[in-house]
Amino acid sequence: MQKTTDSRQYYTKITTHVLQEMKLKGEKIAMLTAYDYSMAKILDDAGIDVILVGDSASNVMAGHKTTLPITLNDMIYHASSVMRAVTRALVVVDLPFGTYQGNSIEALNSAIRIMKEAGANAIKIEGGEEVIESVKRILSAGIPVMGHLGLTPQSIHKFGTYVVRATESDEAEKLIKDAHCLEEAGCFGIVLEKIPALLATQVTNETRIPTIGIGAGSGVDGQVLVLHDMLGITTKFSPRFLRRYHNLSEEIKGSVTAYIDDVKSVSFPNEREQY
Ligand code: KIV
Repeated sequence: MQKTTDSRQYYTKITTHVLQEMKLKGEKIAMLTAYDYSMAKILDDAGIDVILVGDSASNVMAGHKTTLPITLNDMIYHASSVMRAVTRALVVVDLPFGTYQGNSIEALNSAIRIMKEAGANAIKIEGGEEVIESVKRILSAGIPVMGHLGLTPQSIHKFGTYVVRATESDEAEKLIKDAHCLEEAGCFGIVLEKIPALLATQVTNETRIPTIGIGAGSGVDGQVLVLHDMLGITTKFSPRFLRRYHNLSEEIKGSVTAYIDDVKSVSFPNEREQY
């Protein structure tokens, strides 16, 4: 097994520079999503390096089928809740669909709202060359930007499915070009979603900025999962890259059933639980 350092022993605050150091040292970066105060506090206390306030909140918090409906105001609400909990992790917030594509001034204004109103540390944008003007303008305001290539859920209607991306050479070449483009523009990292492991490793080796994979194998600089998926709160989403660490949905149902039984049988509250 590869010998690495452990950021939990060295850093009291994770910054984009720390992530860069971790890549240089060969220490893997652990990232998870969170959308609310209580979960974010647990993740931060556990020593997670990066918290992503992902637009997957649209799916797992709001119940939408895609990430498209979530608004900038929704993202600011979720990000503000997370920021009130976090002291150590770097908090990255997704710019939602329709707030940065095709208009770099709108992109900058959206990013500024997230930084100012939520107090976030960085933002994330989906896409490569086609959003580079927006990426550069946001960076020019001193706002750290993370890229996101491969499966980009905000483009689901263009692709039609959530299958693995960049399996054909032309798409793989574009992805490599886009990764270089994002690095040259000044992004501090790139999420690589659902692409072949060999391609993700190649991008990781060819770029100086950290790559964070989700369904991209182990050759990347870090991993990210959606919290509700890895805890087993969601149950229907089961791609092969997802490792479930818990079956919280069943545990919560068990507790709620026990509570209902206790209320109905008047075994709750007992004498010690009343005044
Ligand atoms: O919104 C999100 O949760 C994401 C991750 C899947 C990387 O973008």
